[in-house]
Amino acid sequence: MEKLVSLCKRRGFVFQSSELYGGLGSVWDYGPLGVELKRNVKERWWRAMVHSRDDIEGLDAGILMHPRVWEASQHVATFADPMVDCRTCKARFRADQLAAAQCPQKPSKHPGEHTACSLTEPRQFNLMFKTFMGPVEDTAAVVYLRPETAQGIYVNYLNVLQGSRQKVPFGIAQIGKAFRNEITPGNFIYRTREFEQMEMQFFVKPGTEDQWFEFWREQRWQWQLALGLRPERLRWHQHGPDELAHYAKAAYDIEYEFPFGWGEFEGVHNRTDFDLKRHQEYSGKKLEYFDQEKNERYVPYVVETSVGADRCTLVVLCDAYHEEAVEGETRVVLRFHPALAPIKAAVLPLVKKDGLPEIAERIYRDLRGKYVNAFYDDGGSIGRRYRRQDEAGTPWCVTVDGQTKEDGTVTVRHRDTLQQERVAADRITGFVAERLGS
Ligand code: GAP
Repeated sequence: MEKLVSLCKRRGFVFQSSELYGGLGSVWDYGPLGVELKRNVKERWWRAMVHSRDDIEGLDAGILMHPRVWEASQHVATFADPMVDCRTCKARFRADQLAAAQCPQKPSKHPGEHTACSLTEPRQFNLMFKTFMGPVEDTAAVVYLRPETAQGIYVNYLNVLQGSRQKVPFGIAQIGKAFRNEITPGNFIYRTREFEQMEMQFFVKPGTEDQWFEFWREQRWQWQLALGLRPERLRWHQHGPDELAHYAKAAYDIEYEFPFGWGEFEGVHNRTDFDLKRHQEYSGKKLEYFDQEKNERYVPYVVETSVGADRCTLVVLCDAYHEEAVEGETRVVLRFHPALAPIKAAVLPLVKKDGLPEIAERIYRDLRGKYVNAFYDDGGSIGRRYRRQDEAGTPWCVTVDGQTKEDGTVTVRHRDTLQQERVAADRITGFVAERLGS
């Protein structure tokens, strides 16, 4: 993990938030390569969940919502972790994770084990961030930063249904920020206080939810595999009765084997009609669906798929990271799926003379003109330039050399195999586009 975090900083994937001021706990900023990687992850999700399906609509709801939403969803009452405080050192720990925590005064011991420890009884600590809407900071003005994007979908389900002419079964997908005042954040971008979720709520007829649950489990598993992730590092985890969230009747997580152990990064949940019924009750408005063909009314059940964009990006980074020995040196390479790679092709003139930079510049401009994120680099030895692109995960390096002027071909070096082939310079944009499937 340390190597990955340091590479991410050095190469401009991820920086700590407000580092200039000593950093802000568990918030991270995405640099030039990181923002491309995360955007590509989100783009792949949107394509699979919205563009390739005619039964799912997109949505972009506000982060701030009416505070009653969070009462209806039970987040105000139950979205909490049990916490204990140490009266001596003032540190706060999750009561159910004391065995994994260290006493700040004596790190070899767990909280409560050191003679100086004085722990309080567990208290519930709500994870939602509160703020105030408008100029008056009183309880009537309290609003929350949403802890999940799903509620924005539920309160808009009838709007989408009416505007889109969908029929149950159908889904609504959304990508957006969520906030949780996590007590034990950590492991880089794995558990943070500000993050993005990619969530889809699929509305189905009661009685059909089990079959749709299995359908979405399979779909989401296949999506992860299609990212090129190593299957042996993926597994399912079924929630036991004591793990289920308050809204779920059944839940499965997709877990990845991170360097720090197995961890969840996507959940598929059977949320029954819990959320819609609660919103119906709290808003006093009917949220029933009318099936015209069968002439029946019902509140749909919901099957949810929910994956963190940041956690998924971390999975992609961990899975792509490789170290290998090449010609007596260690090569660090990020073997991203080409569709996810932040830079698709680097264009490198072998030397900065003899007209090679001009040819390279033309190829580079052509790639960019076709919206292929390309990179131009003429600094340092060609070996060093290749290594830099390996660390950025660039699938193809295009080298313009002496032969280019003779026969109009360039060398394409493949990141994973290190094989090199000659390709006509004027075919490069097509070569890259074909391999990206666009
Ligand atoms: N709407 C259901 C829901 O929010 P969840 O299991 O609490 O379910 C879904 O969260 C996904 O959101 C997780 O699998 C994870 O990828 C991401 N996520 C949750 N909390 C996170 C955090 N503190 N930091 C980063 N990602 C988080």
